Parts: sequence; structure tokens; C-alpha cells
Amino acid sequence: MRVLSVVSELHPLIKTGGLADVAGGLPPALARQGIEVHSLLPAYPPVVARIGAGEAVHRWPEFYGGPAALRRLAAEGHQLFLLDAPHLFDRPGRPYSDEAGHDFPDNWRRFAALSRAGADIARGLVTDFRPDLVHAHDWQAALTPAFIHYDNTPVPTVLTIHNLAFQGQFDAAIFPSLGLPEAAFSIHGVEYYGGVGFLKAGLKLATAITTVSPTYADEIRTPEGGMGLEGLLSDRVDVLHGIVNGIDTEAWNPATDPYLAARFSVDDLAPRAVNRRAVEERFGLVPDAGPIFTVLSRLTWQKGMDVLVATVDHLVSLGGRLAVLGSGDPLFEHELRLAAAAHPGRVGTIIGYDEEIAHLLQGGADAILIPSRFEPCGLTQLYGLRYGTVPVVARTGGLADTVIDANVAAMTAGVATGLMFAPVDVSHLRKVIRRAVNLYHQPGCWTSIRRQGMKADVSWDRSAAEYAALFRELVSAR
Ligand code: ADP
Ligand code: GLC
Repeated sequence: MRVLSVVSELHPLIKTGGLADVAGGLPPALARQGIEVHSLLPAYPPVVARIGAGEAVHRWPEFYGGPAALRRLAAEGHQLFLLDAPHLFDRPGRPYSDEAGHDFPDNWRRFAALSRAGADIARGLVTDFRPDLVHAHDWQAALTPAFIHYDNTPVPTVLTIHNLAFQGQFDAAIFPSLGLPEAAFSIHGVEYYGGVGFLKAGLKLATAITTVSPTYADEIRTPEGGMGLEGLLSDRVDVLHGIVNGIDTEAWNPATDPYLAARFSVDDLAPRAVNRRAVEERFGLVPDAGPIFTVLSRLTWQKGMDVLVATVDHLVSLGGRLAVLGSGDPLFEHELRLAAAAHPGRVGTIIGYDEEIAHLLQGGADAILIPSRFEPCGLTQLYGLRYGTVPVVARTGGLADTVIDANVAAMTAGVATGLMFAPVDVSHLRKVIRRAVNLYHQPGCWTSIRRQGMKADVSWDRSAAEYAALFRELVSAR
């Protein structure tokens, strides 16, 4: 079976968050299930600088405001199509925003073009690659199922929701420029509260929908979690599936990780102390006997960063230390810098995005704090499990599906892998931090939790088997 994956980021080529990890990790795992995936993404400058542009397999003299080419190449273990449209993608900044962090005003055009290119490939644009199924990710690729639907291309489509908070909602005035038939501007198509909803259209018109954990699949059908789309998602519950993410266990392997100061495994935890020391040095923490908590995250409201900021004093008063790596909302960046200044040697903050430090933190911290208000899946708790950094997480979405709380029953049975709390507020975060510090000072308990987590299967294989089964079912139903 051949699948076209349409996606706006793919690790290690370009990444703003977990979406890239999934787009990069799932294709090799699907290959082991006998499914060949080609991925279509924009030819962003850093991608072309890293792997070259490939060979043009199609040229459009005019494509959403300028000439464009579809390029093809194999690189870094992936079969790739790159949408080379300089007027849309050849610009400084990040995938969705300029250097100042403002969303590009023409994002609707940029990602309508990506989706249109995906739908063109589905209907045979590239003579020797006709996909049996198209897999689109998030709002940026969500018009792909819509175009395929209105083209009457007989190819099943799957839309995966990685985060319902980002819906690609635009003014109705853009509609005539999308290249969709007039009939598409209706509640059965892209129309959403009088405007154009990219994600809404995809959710309506994809053959099937997945999201990245079973609990999030339930949450998004409720008014609290559905962000306005709960009705539509409830109507489509029979084709909505929750499949938890895996991680790339090669890139994230504590026994071979080149970014670590010392490599270790579940059977040889002693070298971990060297990484812990390296974390202390990097974050300016004074060595002592208490636990090092890390926060490794986009610094946003979704991730509960306001609650974290309000809990730092308490964490320090309990003898904990905190190492923060992240970037995002300037307010939280500022407050976390202030927290470091207020607690020298106890709190260290690095504002920025740094893959190497991310690995070091997972390999050297004692616990990773994830107080997310909602979390479709979350990957950092999975990296934490694999590296023996005990996840301390909110009971929501994929966090609830991947961590086993150290309650009495789980501790007695020896199956606990982390700590969980709810709801996300200052008093409950304080309480779980106290629990974590207490458990940390009972070395038998802490080591048991740590080892149990390291033994958990967080690989892509189980999830890839679920995607493969779904894809096969959809293709044979055609
Ligand atoms: P989300 O996609 O919502 O941000 P995930 O937990 O799914 O959350 O994925 C986040 C990914 O981004 C992980 O791979 C994590 O290691 C990485 N990451 C987040 N912040 C940073 C940072 N400041 N530096 C390096 N990697 C980061
Ligand atoms: C989104 C979600 C995150 C998930 C990631 C990959 O960014 O916020 O929870 O892990 O996508 O699916």
C-alpha cells in the first residue's frame, strides 16, 4: 500500500513541535507494516539548505499567486515531495510566522496551496506515484480531504488532529481564492461560523479522523474539550479513532544518545549521575540531595505555564530544583527568567529551542513536570519514560493514557511509571510536587518508578500497527 502524508513540518528537517516528531517517526514505522509513505511538505529554506531541492516532477506556471514546482527526492530515510513555491515559502522566519513571531497574513494561501498539491498528487499528478490513501495532518493540510472530495478522486483520506486549538479559521473573503467549487461554501464544506474553517472542512469531509490519544478522542467530543467542534466530532464518532503517538526509539535511546554526557540503560543507571551533574552545570544549579525537576516545553497557557510560575517558590521550599528550557509567550519567558533570578542556584532558565539540551535534560533530570491544561498526546513524557526522568503530569489527553500514577495500588503492584494530578491549579500542582519530593527521598520507590517507566513500550510499532489496520480497512472499503 502507498500512502501520501501531507504535513507542514517533519523532524529532522523542520520542526516547531510534536507534529514534526510524528510526521518523521510514523513513516519508517509504517514501512515495517508494509506501507510505503511519501511525505509532501513545503520547500522551506532550511529544508532545502539541508537536503537540496530534488528534481522537479511538475511545474505550475501559476499556483496561488506565482509559479511553483513539485520536487521529489529521498533524504534522511524519507521519500519526499517538496512544494517549491518561492512566493509562499521562500522567506525568513519560522514555518508559520515571521522573525518577530507574527503569523504570516497569507497562511491561508500557503497551506491551501500545500493541500491543493496533495490533492493533485492523489489524482495522478506524478505518473509513477498514485497513493492508495492520503493522510493529512492538522489544519495546515486539512483542505486536502476537501479538495479530494470535490475533485471526486476515489482515494480515501484520513485527517489526524494533533491539536484542536489550531483550526485555521479565516475570513469568508478568502473563499474565492481557494480554488474550491462554490458549493463548498456551506455547512457541509468549509463554511464555519460565517468564515472559512480549514480544520472544520477536513473533519467534515475526510473519510476517517484520528487523533493522537484515545482520551483526547473522548475529550474533543465534549463542550470543554471540543473548542466549538464537539458537535461535528460527535456526529462523526463512528469514524473517529484515538491512536496514541510513539517516539523514535533510535534517536531517543539513552544507551547511544550522542548528546548525553554519559550513556546509560535500565540495567546500568549509574552513569546517569554524570548527566545530572551536566544539567546542574548548564543551568547553574548548586549540587545537593534534592530532586531536579525539568520543564521542557512551549511556554504557553495550554502547557499550564502560568500555574507553573506560581508554584516555583513552593518547589524550591521543598528542596527541589528546577531547570527550564523553552520558548513561547513572552510573558512566561519573562516570568521564568525572573524566577531564576529570584532563586539563584535553585532555578535555571534557558529561553530558546535547543535539541541538544532537550536530550541532556531527559538524560539528567529526575522528574519532568507537564501541567498541561489539555494535551492531545504529548511526547516529552514519553521521552522522560524512556530516559528515566519520571513524568509528573496532568491527568488529561495523552498524558492520562501513557503514564501510570504512583498510587497505592500501582506501587503495590510495581507498575507505576509517574505521578498524575488534576485539576490543573496551583494547589494541586503544589501537592503533586510534594508527593514527588517525598517519593524521591524513598530511593527504593523512586528507582522502581523510574525503572518501570524505562521498560514501558513507547515505540511507534504498536501505534503504527493501529494506523496500518485502519488504512487497510479504508482502502478495502473503497
Ligand atoms: P507540542 O507539540 O504541543 O509542543 P509535544 O510534547 O507533543 O508538545 O512535543 C514537543 C516536542 O518539541 C518534543 O519533541 C520536545 O522535546 C520538543 N521541544 C519543546 N520545546 C523545546 C525546546 N525549547 N528545545 C528543544 N526541544 C523542544
Ligand atoms: C500537538 C499536541 C501534542 C502532540 C503533538 C504530536 O502539538 O499539542 O500533545 O503530542 O501534536 O501529535
